[in-house]
Amino acid sequence: MALMNWQGYDFDTDTGQGGGQYLDQFSMSSMSLSFYIHTFGCQMNQADTEIITSILLAGGFRPSADEASADVVLLNTCAVRENAVDRSGNILMQLKGRKRRRKSLIVGVLGCVPQYERERLFTDYPFIDFIAGPDNYRALADMITSSDEGGRPACLEYDHEETYAGIEPVRSGRISAFLPVMRGCNNHCAFCVVPVTRGRERSVGFDRVIAEVEVLAESGCREITLLGQNVNSWCDSGKGLDFAGLLEGASLAAPEVRIRFTTSHPRDLSEALVRVIAARPNLCNHIHLPVQSGSSRMLELMHRGHSREEYLDKIVMIRSIIADVSVTTDLIAGFCTETEEEHRQTLSLMEEVRFDTSFMFHYSVRPGTWAARHLPDDVPESVKKRRLQEIIELQNRLSRERYEQDIGKTIQVLAETESKRSEAMLMGRSDTNRAVVFNRGDFNPGDLLSVRITGATSATLIGEPLRNREQENPVPIT
Ligand code: SAM
Ligand code: SF4
Ligand code: F3S
Repeated sequence: MALMNWQGYDFDTDTGQGGGQYLDQFSMSSMSLSFYIHTFGCQMNQADTEIITSILLAGGFRPSADEASADVVLLNTCAVRENAVDRSGNILMQLKGRKRRRKSLIVGVLGCVPQYERERLFTDYPFIDFIAGPDNYRALADMITSSDEGGRPACLEYDHEETYAGIEPVRSGRISAFLPVMRGCNNHCAFCVVPVTRGRERSVGFDRVIAEVEVLAESGCREITLLGQNVNSWCDSGKGLDFAGLLEGASLAAPEVRIRFTTSHPRDLSEALVRVIAARPNLCNHIHLPVQSGSSRMLELMHRGHSREEYLDKIVMIRSIIADVSVTTDLIAGFCTETEEEHRQTLSLMEEVRFDTSFMFHYSVRPGTWAARHLPDDVPESVKKRRLQEIIELQNRLSRERYEQDIGKTIQVLAETESKRSEAMLMGRSDTNRAVVFNRGDFNPGDLLSVRITGATSATLIGEPLRNREQENPVPIT
């Protein structure tokens, strides 16, 4: 059963997680308190939910199949944009009614929103029993017990050493896994709350990452995504290694497992890293490289540390080293003082780079950030939305054109799940991270197979398996 059904994930969980401990191994029959987690936000938050689950199971709590029957409901929240905060607010308002009917229900708010808004959350939502920031999950079992006894704990200390060493995440599936290799962010992008919500950067040591990669590989995991807010600044100073060294080490430790990583900051993406990706066959040919804007003036106001030209130089460097690489990005429409001309520079940069796909947002002012304190949020909401729409429409065309280039090719696909539309179809991903839907034949999620591409939309490739399962002979998922 997917964790989504157990824990109310609020994001696309088409990629099953995998490796180590699995949620379906845990009994739900004990008499202890049961818990249910809603998860919002980025992959790092998804990975944190797996750590939180592990901590709660070790503390004697048991997972609940649904929120309605849970004794403890936890929200693992995201503060990156106002609408992300609103989404957890909506769930909290539903829980307020439930708590009125059932006084013993315990509600805890975790993650980036409490770290950002601190005790103000208790004022806005007086029925919340406890709050905890991302560095405080080891105290969760105690916080729940204390809430049960009438306390109202708030654990919001930063711990710049905390990487949750010794805690084995509880994953929901066996095909792919997130593996955080660092936490926090030392950058100061003017628009972003993450340095406040996640604190200072800290890296997981090389030996621990490699050991975790090996365990995942042994457990049958097919794909690992190394996670960090800015993975390029990962380092193990004791060993004198940077992220290129880690990536190479991980790829050698698990040569049969596909390895991805996210997110790269354009300023810190080195040629050495790109050469490692080109050299190692199991490192996926996909780089997510958020640009945010195509205007050098905007990039400077955003404190991104590079210009439009420097970004384009990186793209040329990447494409000259890795054949058929896919580059994806993040874009913000309507940042403070952005003019029409600067917006058109974003569109022209998109045309020039021809991103595979993009995550596209309109600017959401976040109180306390440098931009909120020093710049006017002066692009009207309607203009932000219109610019965002233009960005989305352009990206849809670029994606469709890019995907259509794959028609007629045969590509390796890791099957992940049944397609949402039909049990007779599977959904998987190419190593360039393109979604591929194909007739399943006798294949199963977890199989790596060759698919001949017969069609494309702006979001998906459509294809047919080249061979049957016996001819392809994939290693079964155990
Ligand atoms: N660490 C990554 C990087 O540096 O590119 C990004 C992490 S951030 C959680 C994900 C994306 O959210 C950013 O790349 C940016 O596009 C978007 N974002 C962050 N703050 C935002 C804001 N205040 N308004 C709109 N989008 C925002
Ligand atoms: Fe936010 Fe910038 Fe850090 Fe990314 S690099 S998490 S955008 S501050
Ligand atoms: Fe991630 Fe949102 Fe926090 S994007 S780091 S969950 S603010």
